[in-house]
Amino acid sequence: MAESYKHRAVPALDVFKPDLFKDKVVFVTGGGSGICYGITQTLMRLGAKAAIVGRKADRLRAAAEQLERDTGSKAIATPADVRKIDTVQEAVKMTVDTFGKIDFVICGAAGNFMAPIEGLSSNAFRAVVEIDLLGTFNTVRATMEQVKKNHGNYVHISATLHYSGLPWQSAPSSAKAGVDAFSNAVAVELGPFGVRSNCIAPGLITGTEGADRLVPQGRDEMVQGFMPLQRIGEKDDIANAVVFLFSEAASWITGQVLVVDGGSMHFRGPFLPYPDSVLDARAFKSLFPGSKM
Ligand code: COA
Repeated sequence: MAESYKHRAVPALDVFKPDLFKDKVVFVTGGGSGICYGITQTLMRLGAKAAIVGRKADRLRAAAEQLERDTGSKAIATPADVRKIDTVQEAVKMTVDTFGKIDFVICGAAGNFMAPIEGLSSNAFRAVVEIDLLGTFNTVRATMEQVKKNHGNYVHISATLHYSGLPWQSAPSSAKAGVDAFSNAVAVELGPFGVRSNCIAPGLITGTEGADRLVPQGRDEMVQGFMPLQRIGEKDDIANAVVFLFSEAASWITGQVLVVDGGSMHFRGPFLPYPDSVLDARAFKSLFPGSKM
């Protein structure tokens, strides 16, 4: 039997020129950890200055210091809860006071957990929609004046969850469908000001809270085998796609969703036993510690 072949994820500097984003300022919600931390690190390595936004001020400050040490560029921590627009406006003000402007925005703050509909309270559904969808609106609303002035652009971190009905993911699926729709509206309303708005829909990315929460315990091998490119993604895979979309090479691309998932959306093997996981959800609860039912 032939062996499967795995391409490696490559660092952005192997491909893109080092000063690509010199003098650019990026505002990143969810930049303190996970995929958006990795994206911020890459943009800073290409010369950008960054403001990272998150709820936990201490963790955010430590992340900003680490980013500066690793990249030699500037980063500030701008604490805010994307659900509360006044806190996002304050973070924007702090960014402009420090760096003078905002060119690029990444709407990446997200909340998620695995739960069937019967395990979700109304408040649980609202919590996810408020972080993902309302949080994206609040971030765009608070930054658009700056982004219009600088003819900059937006990347929203979406998902592929909502392309089909995925068990135990109704809240984030609904929220991310809204993010895709909202991005298209931003593309149309702000396009004439020279502003672009695109989404990236990542597949499973290793070392993130999302992967920790979404891959059933002990199922990494099985999950990789379901992916056409035969590996779980890395943060560099997503960061490189963001670099392309923010760059002038993408200057005629707006209102699009770029799926970066190793081809997974075209091969939907069930991560959970189906239909057993919906007929008897409680029996599979132990695969996701913390799941409430
Ligand atoms: N299953 C079912 N319901 C859950 C749950 C789970 N695993 N975890 C939380 N909830 C419910 C809570 O019970 C609560 O509902 P209730 O008031 O009816 O009891 C509601 O969700 C809000 O929870 P709370 O902890 O108060 O909200 P929060 O604002 O502190 O946290 C979350 C928001 C729940 C989305 C949290 O998971 C989070 O902040 N995640 C951020 C990081 C993350 O998820 N990253 C992954 C991105 S893919």
